[in-house]
Amino acid sequence: MSRPFYVTTPIYYVNDAPHIGHAYTTVVADAMSRWHRLVGDEVFFLTGTDEHGLKVAQAAEANGVSPQEWTDRTSSRFTAAWRQLDIAEDDFIRTTEARHHTTVQRFLGAIYDRGDIELGTYEGPYCVACEDYYTEAQLVDGNCPLHLRPVTSMKEENYFFKLSRYEDRLLEWYERHPDAVRPATKRNEALGFIRSGLDDISITRTSLRWGVPVPWNTDHVFYVWYDALVNYVTAIGYGVDDDRFRRWWPAVHHLIGKEILRFHCVWWPAMCMAAGIEPPASVFVHGWLLVGGEKMSKTRLNQIAPSDLIADVGVDGYRYHFLRDVPLGADGDFSHEGMVARYNADLANNLGNLLSRVTAVVAKKCDGIAPAPPADSPLAALASAVVVEVTDAWERFAPHEALEATWRLIHAANAHLEHHEPWKADPGPGVDAVLGTAIEVLRIVALLATPAMPAACAELWTRLGLAGTPEHQRLPAATVWGGYPGGLPISRGAPLFPRIQAG
Ligand code: ME8
Ligand code: MG
Repeated sequence: MSRPFYVTTPIYYVNDAPHIGHAYTTVVADAMSRWHRLVGDEVFFLTGTDEHGLKVAQAAEANGVSPQEWTDRTSSRFTAAWRQLDIAEDDFIRTTEARHHTTVQRFLGAIYDRGDIELGTYEGPYCVACEDYYTEAQLVDGNCPLHLRPVTSMKEENYFFKLSRYEDRLLEWYERHPDAVRPATKRNEALGFIRSGLDDISITRTSLRWGVPVPWNTDHVFYVWYDALVNYVTAIGYGVDDDRFRRWWPAVHHLIGKEILRFHCVWWPAMCMAAGIEPPASVFVHGWLLVGGEKMSKTRLNQIAPSDLIADVGVDGYRYHFLRDVPLGADGDFSHEGMVARYNADLANNLGNLLSRVTAVVAKKCDGIAPAPPADSPLAALASAVVVEVTDAWERFAPHEALEATWRLIHAANAHLEHHEPWKADPGPGVDAVLGTAIEVLRIVALLATPAMPAACAELWTRLGLAGTPEHQRLPAATVWGGYPGGLPISRGAPLFPRIQAG
């Protein structure tokens, strides 16, 4: 039975150029999707861009182009970055697309028809950079708490979502769905927020036109956040294809950064209830990548583009570093030295050395033809234990643990080679057994690491003389010890991960 696995990233604001923070969520979602495809699940991976709102309209004007032209240009920076990072999304949604406008009107129209959207007057401090109202209490020295810049005061008559009616229903729903928000600390944060009391929220604007028109009163457009959240159901056929919608919803995994927890864990589930659908089954909240201890932001000029780092460690080195070194959930301080040290230790040394040693000795002692793995290899038990651990780690959204476990197997294979020193021995069954073990470990590693490093693992697979790619195998069957047939030509080649000189 193939399980459906629907994973989403936030849709990113087009005014920012893609940086390593956006790339972090997207690489994690991509690796998750690749893992689930590998184990035979049916996967739908959605990402995209958030293109409405005041900030976008202002930027377009400042650049002397129409908002549509501006968003076409800026959205394509994200697709370009994702091509460069080997991201394989199934759909890239843009909130300016017609399919999305239709769905927003239908979804919010359903809430209106059911009576939970009403007219009212709103007044309060507003941060244009956040596209969000704040309460006086949330301001820091009168400034936006996130951007630390002055807020403006906004007053308008607009439509309100009656969020205050959902306090009890949300608490009761979370009671019945203890894993709906992970990690548990973030669940507690969401619950605390709900328990502190929920105000109705203003969800439309009359002050701008760059948005989705409110179908029952076209003087208004929907406020950017309430349009944006709906993307998650637009992409799976809400209101258009019921069978498709039911296949993916509510079994979704929203992957988000911690600053948008309120929107995803309070507003969005309540909106779903109000529209008459189930809230999302799971929201996984990760921490921030910090640079010099601070969150990256345009105003602080400390944003790092993925391409700058790819130039140093390659696409696979990049993906490996962020998946391995930043446990999903915690904040992580980015350091260039840390990234290079990890690359040299795990990729150039451990994995790279294992491959180059094996290919060199097979060339020298076996005429380049690989021996088959011995059934009674001392590493067979470890390999199968690692497969179980890796599987469990991916299921728990813990890529760093999956990779840590995989590299333990590589360490063991290197130690096995060093212990037996096949390069010093005469050709024969002893040498064959040691090399066969190392080659089988490399084959299993190519399978286990392919979600993190698809290109490098495909190359590794080919060098072992295997046909196809690791991505097209099925786990767990393909990882069973003894899968390598032997008798295949092993190719030497340039180092898979050339060592990087520090500094
Ligand atoms: O909030 N560390 O878009 P956004 C880790 N459009 N992740 C980071 C990060 C960092 N320093 N910086 C950004 C929006 N991210 C809305 C979302 S969804 C319906 C609408 C990642 O461009 C992280 O996933 O500000 C964060 O939540 C997201 O980018 C915010 O992207
Ligand atoms: Mg942001």
